[in-house]
Amino acid sequence: MAMNIPRGTQDILPGESEKWQYIEGKARELCSRFQYQEIRTPIFEHTELFLRGVGDTTDIVQKEMYTFEDRGGRSLTLRPEGTAPTVRSFVENKMHGNANQPVKLYYTGPMFRYERPQAGRFRQFVQFGVEALGSSDPAIDAEVIALAMSIYTELGLKKLKLVINSLGDKESRNSHREALIAHFKPRIGEFCSDCQNRLEKNPMRILDCKKDREHELMQTAPSILDFLNEDSKKYFEKVQQYLADVSIDFTVDPNLVRGLDYYNHTAFEIMSDAEGFGAITTLCGGGRYNGLTEEIGGPEAPGIGFAFSIERFLSALEAEGIKLPVNEGIDCYLVALGEEAKDYSVGLLHKLRMAGISAERDYLDRKIKTQFKAADRMNAKYVAVLGEDELKAGKINVKSMETGDQTEVSLDSFIDQLKELIGG
Ligand code: HAM
Repeated sequence: MAMNIPRGTQDILPGESEKWQYIEGKARELCSRFQYQEIRTPIFEHTELFLRGVGDTTDIVQKEMYTFEDRGGRSLTLRPEGTAPTVRSFVENKMHGNANQPVKLYYTGPMFRYERPQAGRFRQFVQFGVEALGSSDPAIDAEVIALAMSIYTELGLKKLKLVINSLGDKESRNSHREALIAHFKPRIGEFCSDCQNRLEKNPMRILDCKKDREHELMQTAPSILDFLNEDSKKYFEKVQQYLADVSIDFTVDPNLVRGLDYYNHTAFEIMSDAEGFGAITTLCGGGRYNGLTEEIGGPEAPGIGFAFSIERFLSALEAEGIKLPVNEGIDCYLVALGEEAKDYSVGLLHKLRMAGISAERDYLDRKIKTQFKAADRMNAKYVAVLGEDELKAGKINVKSMETGDQTEVSLDSFIDQLKELIGG
């Protein structure tokens, strides 16, 4: 029986993987400019972490987790997201005691959700995420959002829409919650079973229901923004002011509720506005999660962060017709003719590579014409031809594939001259 890849996963093949590296590299570089440092946490965690961290009324916990028992009878779960593990590590490693505060972290790696696969939705996907812990200054909210936007814009994306909302503090959310229950309760029978379950447990999630989106009660539901207390209102105003200070356009959408339970105050999503992007337009999601460290058993340390998947990033690039500068070719293709030259080329090729030059040679005993074709396919800048005569004379022929110019140089100075040519 032929073996197939599991549903909702994909192989990233050469030619594509360079794009992933490029995006991750750019994101890492920006994190370094913004002074975020990498954290690496395990792929699996105790299931309890996500029940408490992500929230047991969320779709993720109720329907999407890859949970299994290990041989020791422990319940473990492949991480569906990176915030709860990062916060767990922050608490476990007592990072609240670090000299540098807030603690600014980033991560990248595979996440797992048992979702219905479709364009932009995978069961294994790679998130790049950022978490800043230990500050409740609205300036850090603006910084985190600016970092997310910068990663997109530095890679050339233009058709972006930033949507923000405030979910307020506990007091604001409690009064909003009461209002939502009063609003939906009399007619909850007209809603789907998920919404009926959410009514008492987490009525805000009703606003995010895909099935009942068109119900008239959705349009008239009480807005969280009308329930923000003075502190929450002030906080949200500051975030907006700082976003304006860093020249980031945004829209406030009071219906933006995120799919995870830990959020309060600032919540945001970045969408693609590009035509043909597909049904799922959210590229990146994030928000503030004060209280999560305590939920996980640690001391108080307010936090905010975001995550995006590389899969959706690539779809957005494609929708905008942006080509990343990858697969740009190699510096030198070494053609050796005759046994002696071939033997000599083994050492020479290695020297080229050790000198920082990307180089390749033939391993299939192909004719010179076919080797030139291979060099062309690899987009080689130079082809160096070493025949028996050249070898005897201590020379090598270097041809620029761009101009067609050929020069014979001495084997002793070949590497230095090539370096100069490439550098220039
Ligand atoms: P999330 O909204 O669940 O938030 O996911 C964030 C991003 O991950 C999405 O905007 C999308 O780019 C990507 N994503 C989610 N599910 C899939 C999927 N099935 N296939 C492909 N891409 C997907 C979180 O995960 C939070 N931990 C974000 C956060 C960090 N909040 C604060 N800090």
